Amino acid sequence: MKELEERILRDGNVLGGEVLKVDNFLNHQIDPKLMQSIGNEFAKHYANKGITRIVTIESSGIAPAVFAGLALGVPVVFARKQKSLTLTDDLYSTDVYSFTKKSTSTIVISKKFLEKTDRILLIDDFLANGQAAKGLIKICQEAQATVVGVGIVIEKSFQVGRQLLEEENYEVYSLARIRAFEEGQVKFVEE
Ligand code: G4P
Repeated sequence: MKELEERILRDGNVLGGEVLKVDNFLNHQIDPKLMQSIGNEFAKHYANKGITRIVTIESSGIAPAVFAGLALGVPVVFARKQKSLTLTDDLYSTDVYSFTKKSTSTIVISKKFLEKTDRILLIDDFLANGQAAKGLIKICQEAQATVVGVGIVIEKSFQVGRQLLEEENYEVYSLARIRAFEEGQVKFVEE
């Protein structure tokens, strides 16, 4: 998505060789117009796929997911991260390890917001090592819902996330695919 790639080049900062800081428009301050274009792009790609619900994870997945939900006319559920979990029967939960943040969080979704008839579109801001997406897939499987696709705003294609998801036959649609960071410069995958 050209508009997004241009914004990454303009406002993104490469930190420590592997992390792209995009807090100017996605991870802290949010640009609603850009998020709307992002939502529309996901909706265009997943139109006619019978999506009934979008699932994302707090916090930075919520903005693009909500705009996609608006464009597709479906509800958006976000997994909550819980530090200490008092087990309750009405929650699906799983542990997600973040290689980037070097910490594990327990993510939960209330059972009342996932149905086995659901056709789910997963959305997240970044795809890096794929652990967040895998955790969300696990929860959807527990609910016996169908995951139709994984929509990603920014994919770091040099990390294993896409490969892990494709190995399990999930379709990944990323709006910006980063091939590498070269001397602090973002290089996109040429398609
Ligand atoms: P994964 O997202 O594919 O599971 O990979 P990983 O475990 O490596 O990363 C987990 C967290 O790190 C996620 O945030 C993800 O958005 C973030 N992340 C990964 N790479 C980058 C990057 O290059 N830039 C930025 N800004 N974030 C990155 P999270 O823990 O879900 O937190 P939140 O920011 O959504 O609240």
